[in-house]
Amino acid sequence: MTDRYAVIGNPIEQSKSPLIHTTFAQVTGQDIDYTKLLAPLDGFAAVVDAFRASGGRGMNVTAPFKLDAFAYATDLAPSAQMAGAVNAMKFEGDRVYAENFDGVGLVRDLVHNLACPLKGRRVLILGAGGATRGALLPVLAEQPAEVVIVNRTVSKALELVALANQHQAGAVPVQGLGYEALQGQAFDVVLNATSASLSAQLPPMPTSVFAPGCLAYDLTYGKGLTPFLKLAQQAGVTRLADGVGMLAEQAAEAFAWWRGVRPDTTAVIDKITVPLV
Ligand code: ATR
Repeated sequence: MTDRYAVIGNPIEQSKSPLIHTTFAQVTGQDIDYTKLLAPLDGFAAVVDAFRASGGRGMNVTAPFKLDAFAYATDLAPSAQMAGAVNAMKFEGDRVYAENFDGVGLVRDLVHNLACPLKGRRVLILGAGGATRGALLPVLAEQPAEVVIVNRTVSKALELVALANQHQAGAVPVQGLGYEALQGQAFDVVLNATSASLSAQLPPMPTSVFAPGCLAYDLTYGKGLTPFLKLAQQAGVTRLADGVGMLAEQAAEAFAWWRGVRPDTTAVIDKITVPLV
């Protein structure tokens, strides 16, 4: 019998996960069925229960259910615990194993696809919400020279600094700042992990943050040249990327976890890339 997987969200129509996983199944020769599941906002657990009861093997989880999945899981991986959110589940009997692959997906895209190693570099992360929380430990594991988290609400950035230091005992210096403190500072890698691009907004950042030769990376995908990427381009940055590679890489991690074989992401990235114009 063909193993069944799904992505659950609300809305879900926009999800690229079925296209991504179906392509992975083709390139790896795996026999899987992957569908979209729309759950009512208060009906996450019921929809997942029904999917499991009908033989479902695993799920990706997208907005707004990453916290529901966190509560639903029986076995949380450290990545999910740190992120405080779950984006992939595996069902085995009465166990629900849960992971969050967003952070490793981001780092793999940076280091492997974009040939931008983080070791020894100054990294700026804009935002202190769920996306930053998920990215933080995988980024620190690459041993950058320094990580600065900047947020409008500075207290949230400081909370993440404390959380990071609990896990990595200060091995990499991590600072939390407000945007005004960025004036005159420059970074080798600037990651936009705010949700500003989703509403075509620009975080209140100075252009000084872009060091010569830096990479400007927007974790949003499929929005073309976001206001953040446009600002970087106007400031002379030539290395611009959105989160399409992160999306493909987090999916590849989930696929490997479920199926035991890691797919090459090139074909998927080619299919889902929206030009940065
Ligand atoms: P996500 O899960 O996508 O990270 P979130 O947890 O709601 O979403 O976090 C959104 C992040 O984007 C927050 O850091 C938010 O900043 P505040 O905590 O100060 O609100 C940030 N954000 C959203 N819109 C922004 C904007 N226009 N400019 C700067 N930061 C913005």
